Amino acid sequence: MLKHALVFILVFVFVVAGMFGPPRVEAQTAAPAQAAAPPFNPGFADLMNTLVQPRHAKLGLSAREQNWALARYAAHELKDSLANIARWRPRFREQSVPDMMEATTGEPIKAVEAAIEARDLGKFNAAYASRPSPQRRRKFVDISD
Ligand code: HEM
Repeated sequence: MLKHALVFILVFVFVVAGMFGPPRVEAQTAAPAQAAAPPFNPGFADLMNTLVQPRHAKLGLSAREQNWALARYAAHELKDSLANIARWRPRFREQSVPDMMEATTGEPIKAVEAAIEARDLGKFNAAYASRPSPQRRRKFVDISD
């Protein structure tokens, strides 16, 4: 009987001690929720600088070396990047980007391609120089103070 009473008292003490003891620390604390990254949204100049300008430069450099296979590839990539920009950014300052692309690069790129097929550096240089100059682009981009 005394044995039973002792066991009961011990169990009682453990239960009460558990109720008033220090709170148990959770083994794992949940990681704070990650804020969603904002969508990738480059500006027009970013697209021009990263997609168009390097391909335009590669086109000029490969033709200068008369590496016509590489020049053909660079012209294709350049056309692709301009077409993609026109799809991603169809309007710029209230104007149609596909129309601007065609008006400013349609003929010059055809002339560049013809020069590449003819492997004619003179013709290439004349066609390449007719890309939209800052003066021609000023209609769309005001670079004055
Ligand atoms: C092979 C042809 C082209 C090349 C090499 C070229 C290159 C460039 C470069 C390097 C810039 C950035 C200038 C800067 O950092 O300030 C630029 C800006 C710009 N380009 Fe082109 N571009 C070409 C064709 C075009 C065409 C066809 C259009 C017509 C839609 C166009 C519209 C623009 C506009 C609107 C900007 C200025 C964006 C801004 O400042 O917010 N570009 N281009």
